[in-house]
Amino acid sequence: MQTITRIAELRATVTRWRLARESIAFVPTMGNLHMGHASLMSAAHLHGRRVISSIFVNPMQFGPSDDFSAYPRTPDDDSSLLGEYGVDALFHPTVEEMYPSGSVGSTVVDVPGLTDILCGVFRPGHFQGVATVVVKLLCLVQPDVAIFGEKDFQQLTVIRRVVDDLNLPVKIVGAPTVRAEDGLALSSRNRYLSAAERAAAPAMYRALDAARRRLEAGDMDYAGMQAEGLAALAQAGFRPEYFEVRTADRLAVPTENDVRVVVLAAGRIGKARLIDNIQCAAPRRG
Ligand code: PAJ
Repeated sequence: MQTITRIAELRATVTRWRLARESIAFVPTMGNLHMGHASLMSAAHLHGRRVISSIFVNPMQFGPSDDFSAYPRTPDDDSSLLGEYGVDALFHPTVEEMYPSGSVGSTVVDVPGLTDILCGVFRPGHFQGVATVVVKLLCLVQPDVAIFGEKDFQQLTVIRRVVDDLNLPVKIVGAPTVRAEDGLALSSRNRYLSAAERAAAPAMYRALDAARRRLEAGDMDYAGMQAEGLAALAQAGFRPEYFEVRTADRLAVPTENDVRVVVLAAGRIGKARLIDNIQCAAPRRG
C-alpha cells in the first residue's frame, strides 16, 4: 500500500489511475480503524478497481469541548489493517496540508435544515466541518464511488444532500452498521467505556429495536416511542440526548404516508458519546 501525505502526490497517483481507465472507490476515515471500517474497505472493492482510503482527524468537525486532541490515533495498526484489506493507497495528510490557512475562517459547506437537527443541536458546527472536509476530500480524490457507514446516518444523509446540491460527480454508497454480538455498534469511542458502561451500552440498540418492532407493527405513536426510548436509555445509565423517529430520506418528522423511517438515538455514558440508528419499513397506511 502506498501511503501519501502530500496533495501533489495524491493528485499524481489519481491521475495515473485515471489515465489507465481504472475506476476509483474511496473510503474516508479518521483512523483508529475497527471492523466497521474494514467492512467499508470490502464494500469498496465491489465498486472500484482501485481502493483508496484517507485518515484525517478533521479539527473542523470537533467543537471546543470535543475530544480532538484525545481522539485515538493508531497509524501503525491502521496501516496494517488497510494493507490486509487490499487498499491501494492511504491519504494521510497533516492538518496544515488540508487547511494551509487554518480551519477557522475558511470556506464552509452548510446544509440548512440537516446540519442543525438531531446531533447538530448537541454538536453545533460539527456537520459543517464534516461536509466541508468531505467535499475537499472528494475534490482531491475524484473517486467514482465513495462509501460511508449507515452507523452515522445523519452524516450519510448530509453527504448525499451535499453531493446532490453541488452536482458532485460521485456515487455515494451506504454500508450497513457492523455490531458486536450484543448489538453495540462498533465505534472508536467505545474505548472510552469502563467495563460496567460497556455492559450497559447495548441498551441503546435494544431500545432502537423495540421502537422498530412497534413501527413495523403499524404503531404511529411516535411521541410514545420516543418517551419509551429516552426512559430506556436513562434506565441503562445514559444521559440521553435524543431518541427520534424520522423519515429515512430527509430526516423529517414522518407523516402517515412515509413508509421508510429511521429511529435515531444519541446519549452520553461515562466519558463516551454514543449514537446509533435502525432503519425500518413501516406498513403502508390507508
Ligand atoms: P470515522 O468515524 O472514522 O468513520 C469513517 C467511516 O466509517 C464513516 O463512514 C462511518 O459511518 C463508518 N463506520 C464507523 N463505525 C461503523 C460501523 N460500526 N459499521 C459500519 N460503518 C462504520 O465518520 C467519520 O470518520 C468522519 O466524520 C469522516 C466522514 C471521515 C469525515 O471526517
